[in-house]
Order: sequence, then C-alpha cells, then structure tokens
Amino acid sequence: MMYRLGAIWTQTDAGIIGRDGDMPWYAPEDLAHFKKVTLGAPVIMGRRTWESVPPRFRPLPGRTNIVISRSVSEAEERDGALWIPSLDAALYAARDAVGAPVEPNSELPESTAANTPTVDAWIIGGGSVYAEALSRTDLPVFGRVKTVERTLFYCQEGNEITGDTRAPELQLANSAGNCEVSSPNGCWRVTSESAWENSEKGYLLDESGTKNPMYFSFQRLERI
Ligand SMILES: NC(=O)c1ccc[n+]([C@@H]2O[C@H](COP(=O)([O-])OP(=O)(O)OC[C@H]3O[C@@H](n4cnc5c(N)ncnc54)[C@H](OP(=O)(O)O)[C@@H]3O)[C@@H](O)[C@H]2O)c1
Repeated sequence: MMYRLGAIWTQTDAGIIGRDGDMPWYAPEDLAHFKKVTLGAPVIMGRRTWESVPPRFRPLPGRTNIVISRSVSEAEERDGALWIPSLDAALYAARDAVGAPVEPNSELPESTAANTPTVDAWIIGGGSVYAEALSRTDLPVFGRVKTVERTLFYCQEGNEITGDTRAPELQLANSAGNCEVSSPNGCWRVTSESAWENSEKGYLLDESGTKNPMYFSFQRLERI
C-alpha cells in the first residue's frame, strides 16, 4: 500500500514562513486550522521547529510527534516525541504510527470530503525539512509529498513582513493542467481555496514590532 504524505505550512504572500526561529505573526484561526487538519496523523518536524513550540504546548497532542535531528544516532523517545536521525528514518516511523491510538483521541477530525485524498502523515516544518521533502522523488514509503495545505497571509501594501525562512516555491499548472516551467518541486494544482478573511484577533508583525492587520486564505494543492 502506498501511503500519502502531505506538507502543511503558513506563508506570507512573499513566501516568508519564519523569522529568528519563530513566526512573525499571531494567527489564532490558522492554529485552529492546523490542529483540525493534522489531528490523528503523525507529524514530522525539524529540531528547530520543535524548539519553536512553547514547552507547554509540546508534544502536539493527539498526534505522534517525530523530530528529526543529527544529534541522535538512533531513534529515541524524548520529551514525549520520537527523535530520529534522518528524514528517511522518520518516514518509516511515521508509517508505523499511522492509525496508532494517540492521546487524547476524543477530537479526531471529521471524515474528509470524498474528493479529498486522505493524508496519512504530515511534514510540519521548518524550512529545511520542507525543502528536502518537497524536492525529493524517492522518499521511503511515501514516494513524494503529494498534498500541500498552505495558509496564505496577505498584508496591506507598504507593510512588508520580512523573515529568514522561506516556503518551497510551487509551480502552479495552467488551465490545461500543465506547468510551463519545470521545477524541482514539481507541478501543482489548487483543489480548494477559502475566501479571503480578515483575522479578528490575529496580526502580522513587521520588523519594528508593529502589529499589522492580517488577511488569510486556506489553500489545498495536489501534485499533478
Ligand atoms: N510558517 C510555518 O508554517 C512554519 C512551520 C514550521 C516552522 N516554521 C519556522 O521555520 C523556522 C525553522 O526552520 P529551519 O529551516 O530553520 O529549521 P527546521 O527545519 O525546523 O530544523 C532544522 C534542524 O532539523 C534537523 N534536520 C533537518 N533536516 C534533517 C535531516 N535530513 N536529517 C537529520 N536532521 C535534520 C537538524 O537538526 P540538528 O541541528 O539538531 O541536527 C536541523 O538543524 C522557524 O522560524 C519556525 O518558526 C514555520
């Protein structure tokens, strides 16, 4: 059986996903969306992303947390997560964790729409892990990342949100379903997109620390 691997991230319209080991925004709607999408599935993250999660919120509940780090030479349990020395080994561990009971299991997501393929495991960051996972064609168990769930943030013109970590660039297919330019990350089509909304309590932080209004849209893409 071929399992399906997804990647989930949040980016500004300029492709920024992080700054100084954190994310330059506060986005409650996006946090709720991330939880809803990933709950019940194993999540794979780089060591820096694990460290960016405040200790009281980790491991992420209801999901097997897999952290990759070259500081370990073999799989070991640490702080409620499984630490693994490579992405390949993490993918085998994710396969073994698919369907395993995870606590708490009372809030598993509603069943997905019939036309949305079920994702068995999620890559949840950060920049270096997305880059490796999206560009590889030989991922053990999963082959390639086949689904991307991304939240797009739009900031009013003139309020630039800077950062040091970027999302992988995705080539979108034209109306005929082809990509005109070949890209190491492959060719993608948008399968669902929510209307742009203005976040009630969320904001984007510019370099001066000013809170800027945030508009967001959730997008699902599948690899062609
Ligand atoms: N916007 C979003 O959706 C989102 C999501 C997640 C994270 N982020 C942001 O992204 C930034 C972190 O990204 P990052 O690229 O700096 O770090 P990262 O990808 O989270 O972690 C990098 C670390 O993971 C380990 N690692 C990565 N690839 C590996 C491999 N193939 N084999 C073994 N270990 C591997 C290494 O740990 P060791 O050094 O221990 O060997 C490496 O230093 C933060 O700003 C974070 O807030 C944003």
